[in-house]
Parts: sequence; structure tokens; C-alpha cells
Amino acid sequence: MTPQHLTIVTHPLVQHKLTLMRDKSTSTAGFRRLLREISLLLAYEVTRELDLTQTTIETPLCEMQAPVLEGKKLALISILRAGNGLLDGILELIPAARVGFIGLYRDPETLQPVQYYSKVPAELDARMVIVVDPMLATGNSSAAAIDLLKEKGARNIRFLCLLAAPEGVERMRQAHPDVPIVTAALDERLNDHGYIVPGLGDAGDRMFGTK
Ligand code: URA
Repeated sequence: MTPQHLTIVTHPLVQHKLTLMRDKSTSTAGFRRLLREISLLLAYEVTRELDLTQTTIETPLCEMQAPVLEGKKLALISILRAGNGLLDGILELIPAARVGFIGLYRDPETLQPVQYYSKVPAELDARMVIVVDPMLATGNSSAAAIDLLKEKGARNIRFLCLLAAPEGVERMRQAHPDVPIVTAALDERLNDHGYIVPGLGDAGDRMFGTK
């Protein structure tokens, strides 16, 4: 694993909030609030390499050259449904981002991801594309979503999650070595049901209050 491929955000606020999210006694409302807060901090890290250009502005004192974001608005792609929890927070920080959604389910016979929904912004080739899904578990759906985005022209892609399993990181490294991963933690392993251990349970259920 190259150092550029996986970034673990070790900021104390991220780690503190993640611990609260892992705790099974945290309520649905608390989990949602923490997810929104932590997604702002993770968004800060994953957008670190956005390009800047100079523009001329006037402060109350004088004219100056100052940096602004360059190029087309970035694209946020949420992998349904849990991706939407990360998406909401990031949109507070980057309200002009373009947004896409990809829905995948696992075929019970082949166990491979099958796409049931996809709607993504135009001109993906000219944007930074950030794919969001809280849990990088097997990595199969993440890799499939990125296959689809590359078919649609995306070249500059990043993957943002809250928790990653070593198995998912390895799957992504093999399928998409050009896609850096940003996460708050790399956990121990997957269990026999595909859950990340120690993890935080089913992220979708915890954020939407379903079972
Ligand atoms: N998806 C989840 O929501 N949790 C896991 O632990 C793994 C996949």
C-alpha cells in the first residue's frame, strides 16, 4: 500500500467523534449529528489538492491578488443509501458541488454488485470527483461505482469513507490504484457477514434508525 493511497485522518476531533459514533449507546439523532460534523472535517482533508487560481479583488484597503478555486465545480457521488449521511455534511462546506448518486445491490447468486440506479453530473472528466460511502468493507461496491464513473469519463477521483477494512483497501488498491482513499480509521477485519470489526454496525441503520 503506497502512503498516497490511504490517508487516515488522525485529527483529535475526528477520532473523538468517531469513538462516540462507534458506541452502541449513541442515539440515532446523536449519530446523525456526529456524522454531519465528522464529514466536514473529512471533507477538509479530501479536498486538500483542489487547484487554486489567482483573482483580483479589492479589500477595504487596497487591491490584491487572492486565491480562489479553479476549474469546474467538484462532483460528489454518494453510494446509496449510507453515502447520503456523509454527503449532507460535505454539502454544507461545499454548497456549489455537483451531486450524483449510484445505487448498487448485491446479486444473491453471483454476490457481485449490480447497479439499480445512477445519475451523475456531466463533464466528469473536468472535475475532481469525490465518491462517498461511510463503510469501505469488501470494497466490491466501491470498486464497481468507480468503474462506472471511469466509464463516464471521471479521471481525478477520490474515495471518502468513515471506516475502512483492510480487505476493502486492498480490493480498491488492486482495482483502482489511482484513487486515493481518505478515512477516519482502518479497522481490524471483516467478519463472516461482511461487517467491519470493531466497526460501528450498519451505518445506514444507525443513521436512519432502521433495523
Ligand atoms: N456496511 C455497514 O454499514 N457496516 C459494516 O460494518 C460493513 C458494511
